[in-house]
Amino acid sequence: MVVVFEIWLLVMFSLQLQSVISQNLTCNSDDLTGLSGFMNAMESPIDGWGPANSSCCNWVGITCSSSSGRIVRLELPKKRLTGNFSDLIFNLNQLKSLNLSHNFLKGPLPTSLFLLDNLEVLDLSSNKFNGVLPDSIYLPALQVLDISDNNFRGFLPFGLCVNSTGIRVLTFSVNYFTGNIPPQIGNCGFLEHLSVASNSISGIIPDFLLRLPRLQELDLQDNEFTGISGIRNSSSELVRLDISSNRFSGNIPDIFYNFRNLSHFLSHSNNLTGGVPASLSNSQTISSLNLRNNYLDGPIDFNCSKMINLTSLDLSNNNFSGTIPANLASCLNLKSINLARNKLTGQIPESFKNFRSLSYLSLSSGSFSNLSTSLKILQHSPNLTVLVLAMNFYTEQLPSDGYLRFKTLEALVISSSSLTGTIPSWLNGLTHLQLLDFSSNHFTGQIPAFLGDLKSLFYLDLSNNSFSGEIPKNLTALQSMISRDISLQKPSQDFPIYMSRNVISNTWMTLQYDEIMMFPTLLDLSNNLLTGPIWPEFGNLKKLSVLDLKHNNLSGTIPSSLSSLRNIETLDMSYNSLTGTIPLSFGNLHFLSKFSVAHNDLTGSIPSTGQLQTFSIASFEGNSGLCGKYLLKCEKTQVLLETPAASKDEDDSITRVLAFIGFGTGFLVTVFYLLVVPRLIKGYTHS
Ligand SMILES: *[C@@H]1O[C@H](CO)[C@@H](O)[C@H](O)[C@H]1NC(C)=O
Ligand SMILES: *[C@@H]1O[C@H](CO)[C@@H](O)[C@H](O)[C@H]1NC(C)=O
Ligand SMILES: *[C@@H]1O[C@H](CO)[C@@H](O)[C@H](O)[C@H]1NC(C)=O
Ligand SMILES: *[C@@H]1O[C@H](CO)[C@@H](O)[C@H](O)[C@H]1NC(C)=O
Ligand SMILES: *[C@@H]1O[C@H](CO)[C@@H](O)[C@H](O)[C@H]1NC(C)=O
Ligand SMILES: *[C@@H]1O[C@H](CO)[C@@H](O)[C@H](O)[C@H]1NC(C)=O
Ligand SMILES: *[C@@H]1O[C@H](CO)[C@@H](O)[C@H](O)[C@H]1NC(C)=O
Ligand SMILES: *[C@@H]1O[C@H](CO)[C@@H](O)[C@H](O)[C@H]1NC(C)=O
Ligand SMILES: *[C@@H]1O[C@H](CO)[C@@H](O)[C@H](O)[C@H]1NC(C)=O
Ligand SMILES: *[C@@H]1O[C@H](CO)[C@@H](O)[C@H](O)[C@H]1NC(C)=O
Ligand SMILES: *[C@@H]1O[C@H](CO)[C@@H](O)[C@H](O)[C@H]1NC(C)=O
Ligand SMILES: *[C@@H]1O[C@H](CO)[C@@H](O)[C@H](O)[C@H]1NC(C)=O
Repeated sequence: MVVVFEIWLLVMFSLQLQSVISQNLTCNSDDLTGLSGFMNAMESPIDGWGPANSSCCNWVGITCSSSSGRIVRLELPKKRLTGNFSDLIFNLNQLKSLNLSHNFLKGPLPTSLFLLDNLEVLDLSSNKFNGVLPDSIYLPALQVLDISDNNFRGFLPFGLCVNSTGIRVLTFSVNYFTGNIPPQIGNCGFLEHLSVASNSISGIIPDFLLRLPRLQELDLQDNEFTGISGIRNSSSELVRLDISSNRFSGNIPDIFYNFRNLSHFLSHSNNLTGGVPASLSNSQTISSLNLRNNYLDGPIDFNCSKMINLTSLDLSNNNFSGTIPANLASCLNLKSINLARNKLTGQIPESFKNFRSLSYLSLSSGSFSNLSTSLKILQHSPNLTVLVLAMNFYTEQLPSDGYLRFKTLEALVISSSSLTGTIPSWLNGLTHLQLLDFSSNHFTGQIPAFLGDLKSLFYLDLSNNSFSGEIPKNLTALQSMISRDISLQKPSQDFPIYMSRNVISNTWMTLQYDEIMMFPTLLDLSNNLLTGPIWPEFGNLKKLSVLDLKHNNLSGTIPSSLSSLRNIETLDMSYNSLTGTIPLSFGNLHFLSKFSVAHNDLTGSIPSTGQLQTFSIASFEGNSGLCGKYLLKCEKTQVLLETPAASKDEDDSITRVLAFIGFGTGFLVTVFYLLVVPRLIKGYTHS
């Protein structure tokens, strides 16, 4: 039926097209033939195309030249077009711009596409094209070619620049291209931007590529490159060079004197060893330097009197040793520093008191000591927004001094450090605080009610501590958990954050959050010594996606108001002393993917509605009075029952750890991660 209907539509369209041709000839007839080939190749009609408008020049996405009347632009991005592009007939030889990005077009590229001798811009990105590109391409006017995010294979078509001499932008990223970068690239004398990210290209980065006179951006990340040739005699105009996630090993070559304009250098996730070469650590132009995930070692030594443009420095997950250099505070524009997961020791230098520009600091997993002094120094940075000190300062006491001031703080992570003490009063009044992670320490005392007044807080993790007493009712008034509006949160420049969580049962996965605002709305009080009830008012926290109260000593009943947590994905109340029944209304929690009330004193029947049906016995076991589903039939008197082969609680031995936090620039985040993310997130396991 569907096929017949589609054929009928196509026939109708051809007829309609005929009528357009006969009625109005302002639309060039060659162009109409080209369009009809295009329409025929599509599986369904194109919205806004047809005879209702008198000339094809008025159809959606089509622009005609006012002088020649010929079609010069065909732009139908994100139209959900589906079709076998290889059936296409192109007659649009005056076309200057063809933009069909983000559709579902498949098939190899039609050879007739390469007869568009006026085409300047060709964007076929994010479709499902496959096959190899033709050997012979004649698009003499081409300036911009974007075929990223398709299924192309074979070699890169660098012969392209032989005929298309004016090419400025080439984007081949996220395909399956293989082979080396061929010497013909030297013909691309006008090339400004080249991206081959996320393919399987190998070999070395040749110096003729680096010496292209106009090349400013070179994105080679996530390939199989093994080396870079020195560029000795001449200089490069490159502004941005990304060679991350390749197979580089050995020392970083000392060639950066030749990059007169380089402001972004990214080489994270390679196997680089040795230190940072002098030409990098004295660079006046570098603004963003990312060497995360390598095997670099030795002391950290940057010449801040030279590095006047340095704004962000990521050296995390290397083998750097020694102390944090005191002179970093004299890098006048340095905002973001990530030194997490190195072999650094000692304390935060006294000089950081004068670090006015500091906004983001991560020192996770080092061997730093003296938390109290560190905080006293850091509070002097007037713009500090993100502070991550996880896995340091072991067994020290968290200072509670009322005079610490972090007015601008948005994210504070002091987790997994076996710290003692209580929740400090200096958190009171941090109205910008959005994320607070104090998990996996030895904190004691009550959870203070003032946390409920932190109006920006939407991520609160106090799990794996020894907090006692009741959960303060004020937490149920956390404004951002009630009405968090992500669209109002301003993006921060300094992320992404990498965070290890056991998202899918026992599997550790590293999640990447490009912004604080991408974190889920979370309240995690699990693995403490909390007593008292689960307040019915928790149902007010409508934006919560995770509510984890497991492994406490909570009592009373499960409030049925929790069923108004319409965004909840994880709801865990296992290992408490809850009584009463499982509210029937829980069947309405449609997003629930993890649920447990195991090991309480619940009675009654397990509701067999909605999502609740999908959970295994592990979600309900250990409640002697429950019946239904896996347990005893409910008609009988509720006899005590041994649950068969009770599996151990999956999360038992896992402590959540914020493994480390990385950062990039806003530019990196938008251009690189958004484009390439599906294939680029490589699973870091926390070490
Ligand atoms: C006619 O063209 C205009 C402008 O391109 C477009 O907005 C409109 O949707 C078209 N009408 C129909 C019926 O296709
Ligand atoms: C042909 O197109 C022109 C310009 O769009 C319009 O003014 C004219 O009415 C059209 N003629 C017919 C027969 O549709
Ligand atoms: C697309 O069309 C070509 C040529 O007509 C044909 O060989 C191929 O099988 C088609 N592919 C699909 C997915 O329909
Ligand atoms: C094609 O259209 C999309 C969506 O409007 C736009 O983001 C993209 O920049 C366009 N491509 C070119 C090369 O202009
Ligand atoms: C350049 O165009 C000519 C003429 O169409 C063609 O024969 C040749 O193969 C093209 N060269 C490349 C490298 O595409
Ligand atoms: C660099 O210059 C030296 C001497 O001036 C010359 O012998 C060598 O060939 C040049 N190398 C390149 C890659 O141009
Ligand atoms: C990088 O080093 C690791 C550990 O030494 C090794 O397992 C891996 O194979 C290396 N990768 C490459 C591409 O050399
Ligand atoms: C590189 O910097 C020089 C001056 O240092 C400038 O003249 C030139 O235009 C810059 N090139 C690019 C591509 O930005
Ligand atoms: C430093 O950055 C600014 C702004 O990006 C730029 O104008 C300036 O040329 C850079 N300085 C050097 C020495 O590259
Ligand atoms: C750091 O830069 C200053 C100013 O350019 C220079 O005098 C000094 O020698 C440099 N120090 C090192 C260790 O390179
Ligand atoms: C602090 O941040 C503000 C706003 O982002 C900025 O204007 C100001 O220059 C920053 N102060 C310092 C010392 O960097
Ligand atoms: C707790 O909430 C109540 C009212 O909801 C408020 O009056 C009180 O000040 C709050 N307590 C703290 C410590 O913020």
